[in-house]
Amino acid sequence: MTNPYLPQPAEIISITKETTTDYTFRLKTDIQPDFGQFVEVSIPKVGEAPISVSNAQPGWIELTIRRVGHLTNELHELKPGDLLFIRGPYGKGFPKEQYRDKSLIIAAGGTGLAPVRNLINYYYQHPGEVRQLSLLMGFKTPEDILFKEDIEKWRSKFKVLLTVDKESPGWSGHVGLITNFVKDAVGENSSASRVIIVGPPLMMKFTSQEFIKYNIPEENIWLSFERKMCCGIGKCGHCRINDTYVCLEGPVFPYITAKNLLD
Ligand SMILES: Cc1cc2nc3c(=O)[nH]c(=O)nc-3n(C[C@H](O)[C@H](O)[C@H](O)COP(=O)(O)OP(=O)(O)OC[C@H]3O[C@@H](n4cnc5c(N)ncnc54)[C@H](O)[C@@H]3O)c2cc1C
Ligand code: FES
Repeated sequence: MTNPYLPQPAEIISITKETTTDYTFRLKTDIQPDFGQFVEVSIPKVGEAPISVSNAQPGWIELTIRRVGHLTNELHELKPGDLLFIRGPYGKGFPKEQYRDKSLIIAAGGTGLAPVRNLINYYYQHPGEVRQLSLLMGFKTPEDILFKEDIEKWRSKFKVLLTVDKESPGWSGHVGLITNFVKDAVGENSSASRVIIVGPPLMMKFTSQEFIKYNIPEENIWLSFERKMCCGIGKCGHCRINDTYVCLEGPVFPYITAKNLLD
């Protein structure tokens, strides 16, 4: 059993280049995260950062990491067989029992698809657990689309609506912000549906408002925050918004709590 407070070495099994800036690292580990939890990833003498678990099976987890700065630049230089360090898993994930036998809509913007990918893959394996699953996913351009193979696989079992803010040559799919497609995703019988929204704060704010406009009750909506964190265990205060420690009480929050945390 891994001590969740101590960084443990984890060997990189494989690296998938999703886009020019987002790589998925499969790591050998016995960590067994809940859906929506995160781990703290580190390289000694370089730094540490919270990263959502984007997929997991016994013996390995996957982390999809965007190159944005000091640590993530170094992580992108690693190769299969190299070691990095992880501690966790941390945080409260998605309350899966509350989605059982319900129509569930997952709206994800950009890298926001990473924290829900593991849950979507679970429903792909256990499609009878929800009544229906609809996926509404938005990316800046077609070149920014993550998990392309998964998305094609998901189309066989779920209603999938994929949109880009700005098209490029060869793109024949939807164009426009996620908020423009909320009405299509909701369809009939909206008040009974459950909704998960993950993405940048502004996307979550406006997408939530749009779902509420189409009769989704506030108590049926959940958001996941990628707010600046440091320790991940309630000690440093970096993630605090008012009296809420996002690392302990989140990153997944019911909308009725989250609406007071959105900047
Ligand atoms: C719960 C949680 C889950 C996360 N999951 C993922 C994930 O699955 N994949 C992923 O790529 N990233 C994820 N992040 C964000 C990731 O932790 C940061 O991008 C990382 O800290 C960057 O480290 P760095 O040393 O490379 O960048 P730095 O050199 O520290 O920063 C580079 C730039 O990014 C900005 N930045 C740093 N951290 C954040 C942040 N948390 N939010 C917004 N801007 C930030 C800085 O202000 C700076 O402009 C998650 C964050 C949280 C809190
Ligand atoms: S990240 Fe340190 S208290 Fe939450």
